[in-house]
Amino acid sequence: MGRVAIVTGTSSGIGRAVGEELLRSGWHVVGVSRRPSSIEASGYLHVGHDLARPAGLVERLGSAVASLVGDQPVSRVALVNNAADPALLGKVADLDPASLARSFTVNVAAPVGLMGWVVRWAPVGAPLRIVNVSSGAGVRPYPGLAAYGSAKAALRMAGMVLGSEVDLEGASVGPARDVTILSYSPGPVDTPMQAEARSTPVETFPLLDTFLRWSEEGQLQSPAVPASEIRSYVESDGHPRFMECRSGEIERP
Ligand SMILES: NC(=O)c1ccc[n+]([C@@H]2O[C@H](COP(=O)([O-])OP(=O)(O)OC[C@H]3O[C@@H](n4cnc5c(N)ncnc54)[C@H](OP(=O)(O)O)[C@@H]3O)[C@@H](O)[C@H]2O)c1
Repeated sequence: MGRVAIVTGTSSGIGRAVGEELLRSGWHVVGVSRRPSSIEASGYLHVGHDLARPAGLVERLGSAVASLVGDQPVSRVALVNNAADPALLGKVADLDPASLARSFTVNVAAPVGLMGWVVRWAPVGAPLRIVNVSSGAGVRPYPGLAAYGSAKAALRMAGMVLGSEVDLEGASVGPARDVTILSYSPGPVDTPMQAEARSTPVETFPLLDTFLRWSEEGQLQSPAVPASEIRSYVESDGHPRFMECRSGEIERP
């Protein structure tokens, strides 16, 4: 029996750590990002794809999964929507709508599309765990983070709506499937995304001092911490249909 995880953003940071953690635990993992991943394992396949152009992605993922698991029945499925484009920092007054549309494609349209695909593709009897990696910026109004934060808020809501649709289907046509969704906020993590934010001018990113302080005071945690928490969630059962939590609120193995 095979457990299959789709993890976006495996070329770097948290996504790479999640891929490695799941592979150590015996999952088959299909990773997605534009750059290649340094992950090398027989259970891993990489799909090089730009989430700003989602066309054709799910077909490529379907082929990658099929070649990884072969004839094995799939016993559990996970989708970790981890990749995000943080590049569009800036005050609302300065945001360029065309760049905003691209950012929303990567951070909302592509991951929502992946949720839809995985619900259609996953075997009905297999538990399906979806993790949408979120941020404090998705629930609190941080100056300079309108593009990023509003995309995280939209993805969070899409996960809640998916949960309500699974409930509705269960109530109308039979037992609800074992599909659960987590909106997970990892807190400050030591990754290239943090380093990039620290190198952004304060005029564009008014929170620069906070990000500099987190780094100087050693408040950034290792990507291994969220990776372990995400593994704990996708491997366990009995979750509410939709839940949201921050790092430290999930029991780690
Ligand atoms: N680090 C933190 O402090 C922090 C805090 C809160 C939330 N988060 C969230 O954690 C998640 C992971 O971030 P991270 O800190 O690990 O950042 P990271 O090291 O910069 O990694 C970002 C990943 O997203 C992928 N990605 C970005 N744009 C893409 C695109 N257009 N198409 C395909 N893949 C794309 C990148 O791959 P390529 O560049 O190779 O395409 C990379 O693998 C994000 O959702 C982020 O919002 C991070």
